[in-house]
Amino acid sequence: MEHTSSYEPKSSFAKWWDERLPIARLMHGQFVDFPTPRNLNYLWTFGGILTFCLVAQIVTGIVLAMHYQPSAAEAFNSVEAIRRDVNYGWMLRNLHAVGASMFFIAVYIHIFRGLYYGSYKAPREVLWILGVIIFLVMMATAFMGYALPWGQMSFWGVTVITNLFSSLNEIIPGVGTAIVEWLWGGYSVSGTTLNRFFALHYLLPFVLFGIVVLHIWALHVAGQNNPTGLDIKTKSDAVPMYPYAVAKDAVGLFAFLILFAWFVFFLPDYLGHADNYTEANPLVTPPHIVPEWYFLPFYAILRAIPSKLGGVIAMFSAIAVLVFVPWLDTSRVRSAKYRPLYKWFFWLLVVSCLALGYLGAKPAEGAYVIWSRIFTIYYFAHFLLVMPILGLIETPTALPKSISASVLPTGSGAPRGATAAPETR
Ligand code: HEM
Repeated sequence: MEHTSSYEPKSSFAKWWDERLPIARLMHGQFVDFPTPRNLNYLWTFGGILTFCLVAQIVTGIVLAMHYQPSAAEAFNSVEAIRRDVNYGWMLRNLHAVGASMFFIAVYIHIFRGLYYGSYKAPREVLWILGVIIFLVMMATAFMGYALPWGQMSFWGVTVITNLFSSLNEIIPGVGTAIVEWLWGGYSVSGTTLNRFFALHYLLPFVLFGIVVLHIWALHVAGQNNPTGLDIKTKSDAVPMYPYAVAKDAVGLFAFLILFAWFVFFLPDYLGHADNYTEANPLVTPPHIVPEWYFLPFYAILRAIPSKLGGVIAMFSAIAVLVFVPWLDTSRVRSAKYRPLYKWFFWLLVVSCLALGYLGAKPAEGAYVIWSRIFTIYYFAHFLLVMPILGLIETPTALPKSISASVLPTGSGAPRGATAAPETR
């Protein structure tokens, strides 16, 4: 989206600087007067919320790392010491551990928002794929972070998930074992594994930050999608990002922070597992090894398939399939708002993912496995069958003439809502 910054340096120093490094001009163009669709709803505040989450995780993580000891002998006790002895350490730890869950709540809303409004469709394919890569890196980061307190679930979670790579032995004998031992840095999960997980857990958020910059860059090339899925055609379809979108983002972030604070101060362990307050013991396996809640749908898919290798392939394919969504969706219309049939299938996908999340926490036996298989089948069918076929046979409902026509009054009359022509006031 071609857009020139209206930045004007206010002082002679600002002018001098602008001629040498126009960073203020760039920021002003991208985050102050950038044209934003005038009809964005609160689901569009989650990108900003996610940026906040990433920065909060990095800041709290760096301070935690100043007190944490990445060794098998000291890790568990050092986390306890942070909670009990370090000034405000309890809060830092809660902010970081709860923050990980909040980050995933926000990213799931952000992804489903994209799926509902067709934000992955041209010209936003690269933006979407960068999002999928972000999601993968987020999962790797969270997985390694969960190992660090060196509780029972940390230890056994790492053991189960790293062991999945041994299924590659079914393709080339010996390769799976070699990879697993290489990941472990030994013949079992140990302090060596913990130490390398710590190093990577510190590194990956910065990699994530770099990919997020590309993600936002790609967004600012294509411009934002919006609930109608229509492109910005005239000036009246858009408002400047500041103050309109920024103020809305601030309201969304504030509401999100209330939920965040509620968990941090009143339910800090609600989203975790009690077993992780028992120090890691390689000789005692917990009765149910379950990952954190945000991995449960993928864990259910893994266990739904009877073969180990098949389960691993299905689990990774569940993420990989997202890369192809821009091409699997054949609909002419972006937003599900105007797709009477697709809407239903979208909610079926949401229900399937929630059901898989529930089933992932249950033992892999009896009816739980059967239901996991049914929902796994729907998950893949949604992307591989429903999206391509429905796009061809569905008749979309009438689209509004433009973004502004969808929110501004058609006749004279009073403006409908606060979105009406705010820039003229
Ligand atoms: C650290 C994680 C992430 C951050 C910080 C982030 C940041 C942002 C921001 C600031 C926006 C613009 C505001 C908005 O539309 O909400 C955005 C838009 C978008 N993001 Fe993300 N994002 C993240 C993860 C993801 C993931 C995992 C996906 C998909 C798999 C994704 C897909 C998209 C798409 C398609 C848009 C364009 C939305 C539209 O214009 O309708 N993002 N993101």
